Amino acid sequence: MHWKSMTALALAARTTALLRFSCTQLTIDRVDPLVNPGLTPSPHLHQIIGGNSFNVTMDPAKDMPGESSCTTCQFLEDSSNYWTAVLFFRARNGTYKRVPIVPNVGFEGAEGGMTVYYMQNGLADYQQTSKVTAFKPGFRMIIGDPLTHTAADSNRFRQVTFTCLQDPGTRFPETKNFPNKPCPAGIMANIRFPTCWDGKNLDTQNHMDHMAYPANGTFDSRGPCPASHPVPVPQLMYETVWDTRQFNNPEDWPEDGSQPFVWSFGDQTGYGSHGDYLFGWQGDALQKTMDTPCYVNCPTLTTQPVADQNKCKVAQSFKEDIDNWLPELPGNPVVSKRWAEKH
Ligand SMILES: *[C@@H]1O[C@H](CO)[C@@H](O)[C@H](O)[C@H]1NC(C)=O
Ligand SMILES: *[C@@H]1O[C@H](CO)[C@@H](O)[C@H](O)[C@H]1NC(C)=O
Ligand SMILES: *[C@@H]1O[C@H](CO)[C@@H](O)[C@H](O)[C@H]1NC(C)=O
Repeated sequence: MHWKSMTALALAARTTALLRFSCTQLTIDRVDPLVNPGLTPSPHLHQIIGGNSFNVTMDPAKDMPGESSCTTCQFLEDSSNYWTAVLFFRARNGTYKRVPIVPNVGFEGAEGGMTVYYMQNGLADYQQTSKVTAFKPGFRMIIGDPLTHTAADSNRFRQVTFTCLQDPGTRFPETKNFPNKPCPAGIMANIRFPTCWDGKNLDTQNHMDHMAYPANGTFDSRGPCPASHPVPVPQLMYETVWDTRQFNNPEDWPEDGSQPFVWSFGDQTGYGSHGDYLFGWQGDALQKTMDTPCYVNCPTLTTQPVADQNKCKVAQSFKEDIDNWLPELPGNPVVSKRWAEKH
């Protein structure tokens, strides 16, 4: 089903809050304040969106996102930071080219970045009536693990997937591995975070243990949260549209029938996909919005023009070439291909 028809259906129904908005590219840099705070360069390259107070430390005691003077997100109230790894194409001659990011359907004019969702229920549930508790200042989390290289292991992270875009509106099916055929309109990386919080910790050592999936069923089937993590929070989702169109010529693809894309941390399977989140909403703006009946266009929030989103930037802190054909990935991670896992 296409996004537009979903929106049309949704508008006809009684709804509570579902937020869908665009954040343009803040920077693409070798920084990772959650996994490698203070370390420049971090081991692999990331693409980052959100508030411009983003830096390599992001001390939780400092309400760093609150110190932003601009945000690349559509809503001025949101100075959170959201990031993922970066996709590269590996040519037959072994050199790498960074895959550009393009805006999603409905966000034309945005320079790169991602589409962000905060949902009370699954996207296809037009009622969106479940009560959720918004994240708090200092909250952060990660989902997915760059060391994951197998389908079985990736099942720990239920909803970290790819969509092979036949056209910009394609939303099904999703796969856990990189698509193994050229995708005419690009590859969409989908990252959905767990939706049950322990109610106590803003963060944990591995940035995941304070969060859990529903005890039975799924978020989409409205499964209840486990006793250890009893607090339902909004489902946070990222969509990144990697514009692979210039790399779709079969002549440029590996001769062994494998696919040519590789994450910036060296993963050629796709199973290591991961996303990072650092909460940075003003005051109770997120809670208020989740409690207000609205779908996509929420009157509690202030929308800035796309041109202003595009103007908000942070300079690359580790200066290196990320734009030309590169003999190795930035940081030179081990590039791994486990084709026994092919599906
Ligand atoms: C990050 O920003 C904070 C707050 O502005 C500042 O105190 C800190 O020194 C910055 N860290 C780096 C490495 O720039
Ligand atoms: C490697 O292949 C790419 C894609 O075909 C090409 O653009 C690039 O110039 C080649 N680099 C070298 C060093 O041959
Ligand atoms: C989940 O568990 C609850 C309580 O034990 C039960 O009522 C519900 O039917 C279960 N849901 C699913 C989807 O299994």
